[in-house]
Amino acid sequence: MNVKKEFPLLKSKVVYLDSAATAQKPKVVIDSVKSFYETSNANVHRGMYDLGEKATDLYESSRTNVANFIGAGTTEIVFVKNATEAINLVANSWGFVNVKKGDKILLTELEHHSNIVPWQLLAKCVGAKLLYVPITKDGELDKKEFSKLIKQKPKLFAVTHVSNVLGTINPVKKFIAEAHKNKVLVLVDASQSVPRTKIDVKNINCDFLVFTGHKAFGPMGVGVLYAKKDLLENMPPFLGGGSMIKQVHLQESTFADVPARFEAGTPNVAGAVGLAKAIDWLQEKGMGNIQQHEKELTKYARKKLKEEKAIKLYGSENNAGVISFNLGDMHAHDVAAVLNEENICVRAGHHCAMPLMNKLGVPATVRVSFGPYNSKDDVDKLMSAIQRAKKVFRL
Ligand SMILES: Cc1ncc(COP(=O)(O)O)c(C=O)c1O
Repeated sequence: MNVKKEFPLLKSKVVYLDSAATAQKPKVVIDSVKSFYETSNANVHRGMYDLGEKATDLYESSRTNVANFIGAGTTEIVFVKNATEAINLVANSWGFVNVKKGDKILLTELEHHSNIVPWQLLAKCVGAKLLYVPITKDGELDKKEFSKLIKQKPKLFAVTHVSNVLGTINPVKKFIAEAHKNKVLVLVDASQSVPRTKIDVKNINCDFLVFTGHKAFGPMGVGVLYAKKDLLENMPPFLGGGSMIKQVHLQESTFADVPARFEAGTPNVAGAVGLAKAIDWLQEKGMGNIQQHEKELTKYARKKLKEEKAIKLYGSENNAGVISFNLGDMHAHDVAAVLNEENICVRAGHHCAMPLMNKLGVPATVRVSFGPYNSKDDVDKLMSAIQRAKKVFRL
């Protein structure tokens, strides 16, 4: 793909291999945010003047854009600040109504902390128990164990679509069908998959889906919760305040219809506008093309990394553009520091997935992740920087 020139930040000498942490932004997205503030800035759903209506129209049309992108209805989309907030919303709103003492919630060993900790907080409060689908040695979810655990009829199965550490692509559609047979609802964390695969929520039939805008080439500070309409309509508010009410009295209030019920306070309008532009950009480039490009880069990089004896690679070939490895016995932070001297940006650490690190038996890994702006040339630069790191560490 020939899109690097559309990303202002990548005109510098950095080799950006950390898109799983946050994606770089194309100029059209940056311009859309700037243009919102220069030409349309007003608060939404309240200004009785043309500018206020313009801002409201932009905000609501961004919601429609997001909805169309993932095959949802417009009122099934709630704007939040990120994926973390979306999961906390479900845990606090749906969770406190539906999860009771002795109930179970099923998670997996591949989850990001944001799909673990909110459930721990809920489980502790109500006296529920968390169960985990284990991973195989290839970094795939163990499907046999999943089939056993789902028969225990947890209240919810919350699973990542693509692992932010190993890049594993989970067969969520199959999992959801099996969960539904057992009357279990499913939340999909699509933070890593929305930027690189086409998702249709009606087709996979998930009950909840969350993603974060900044990994999908949108601005930071905007994220999305999708929930099936009948679920959302029966959920109580998560945050209280302005914009989410019908009537406020001294002792009690009535609440707005969805999705406004879940959007208390002034929303990130410019963020929503920028995310809608990012979605236009993704669609213009073609989700299929992006997926294919990242798949080829991943294959190329894994092959090169495997050729290095000092490198231990984690995860499977069934991978969506995210690769974890370690170099000899060196701590990942030290490796990343040497790569940084060559202007190579990689993530090193536990990647907000400490339970997965424990399972892999390491404190940290180096993680390389691709975006549509990366090329084989970037992989070659990474490999020569690794050669330098080997010399520095005498490996
Ligand atoms: C799989 C996954 N889920 C959730 C998150 C949390 O995203 P955010 O920090 O934007 O809420 C991340 C971010 O790294 C992620 O990779």
